Amino acid sequence: MSTPLKVVAVNGSAHQPSRTLVLIQALLAELDQRLVLDTQIVDLSEIARALGAALTRQELSADIEAQVAAIESADLLIAAAPVYRGSFPGHFKHLFDLVGMDALIDKPVLLAATGGSDRHALVLEHQLRPLFSFLQALTLPVGVYASTADFDGYQVGSQALATRIALAAERATPLFAASARQLRRVA
Ligand SMILES: Cc1cc2nc3c(=O)[nH]c(=O)nc-3n(C[C@H](O)[C@H](O)[C@H](O)COP(=O)(O)O)c2cc1C
Repeated sequence: MSTPLKVVAVNGSAHQPSRTLVLIQALLAELDQRLVLDTQIVDLSEIARALGAALTRQELSADIEAQVAAIESADLLIAAAPVYRGSFPGHFKHLFDLVGMDALIDKPVLLAATGGSDRHALVLEHQLRPLFSFLQALTLPVGVYASTADFDGYQVGSQALATRIALAAERATPLFAASARQLRRVA
């Protein structure tokens, strides 16, 4: 029997609809083909205002505290954010400022970002990866960046993006052998 992998995905966009959320859902769908998942999405569009009003962990509502705790206890974290002014949005950083300093040590983190153009694709390497490296997380080598042109409205719209999403899931899968889907033998 496979052990469900607890995947928590953070959507750093405070807007709805959200291309970053579309990217998260596509990543989860690809992971779900390979692994047995127990999935939760922490969506800044739902919590950004209340989160922003809390300067300390103690000031969080019980609901948001539970979501921060879920991030801390995930087996795999998907950290996805839109690019704002060449980096992640401030409220995304504020969320991780409230996560325990040691809570992400050795935690696998799949990085993802969306932006208006390809010019900021290295936000994964120059902004998101250093943040999670500071927190001593294990950022996965393959992250996914998508620009507006990769989407058809609010759907994955380019084969290049679909391939990149599939690659990220494929490369993440061997890390979680205990959660691998049992392949049915066709003989
Ligand atoms: C305040 C703000 C700043 C932005 N800055 C950038 C930027 O520096 N580079 C970029 O490529 N896109 C930038 N964008 C575009 C967003 O990153 C892009 O539309 C993203 O896909 C939005 O994600 P969402 O649909 O999940 O909210 C910015 C958008 C906003 C609202």
